[in-house]
Amino acid sequence: KQLAAFGSRWSGSRDELSAQISACTRCPLYCMATQAVPGEGPSQAALMIVGEQPGDQEDLQGRPFVGPAGQLFDRLAGEVDFARTTAFVTNAVKHFKFKPQGRRRLHQRPNTSEIDQCKWWLDAERATVQPKVILAMGATAATALTGDGRGIGTRRGRVSTLEDGTALILTYHPSYMLRLRDTDQRAQAEEAFRQDLALAHRLSR
Ligand code: URA
Repeated sequence: KQLAAFGSRWSGSRDELSAQISACTRCPLYCMATQAVPGEGPSQAALMIVGEQPGDQEDLQGRPFVGPAGQLFDRLAGEVDFARTTAFVTNAVKHFKFKPQGRRRLHQRPNTSEIDQCKWWLDAERATVQPKVILAMGATAATALTGDGRGIGTRRGRVSTLEDGTALILTYHPSYMLRLRDTDQRAQAEEAFRQDLALAHRLSR
């Protein structure tokens, strides 16, 4: 079946979109990954949450944010009474990029070309869901949505507007917070994340 439309002009159904994402060969990442991981959540969600790419668990289960980063996300969301099932949760890149090391698969950051190729699908998800607000977690999501992945620490927590009028808020990626060893730094980042998520949720109502 032909693409019903493309990227930001996507006009097919949600199921068609998931099927097209699952069959994607736009960049080489599909060769190594188990499967593509499309976004999930209500088709009319007012809030879209965008991460980087599926991790090891997400790649195996075919669902976004079900591994350790997802567990941290769920804990912090619970602390601000936010129910993740009300949002559309997705990733900037739909296939897991990794380097095999023995029996482990080490996460690799997607490069700008991979982010750019996959923006087609993120734009199609945006066209389908038409969220009022997007919460972009981390540099990859920020790059996909703004073209600029620099310095989340100094850009987070502010509301800006995308070209189609959607409100955008940047925040830390849960995996970044998981890597913070300093307990004060980690507590500060978690507090910032809770504030950013609560702001995105408030604005979307
Ligand atoms: N990290 C992400 O960015 N997305 C996921 O789905 C899981 C981990």
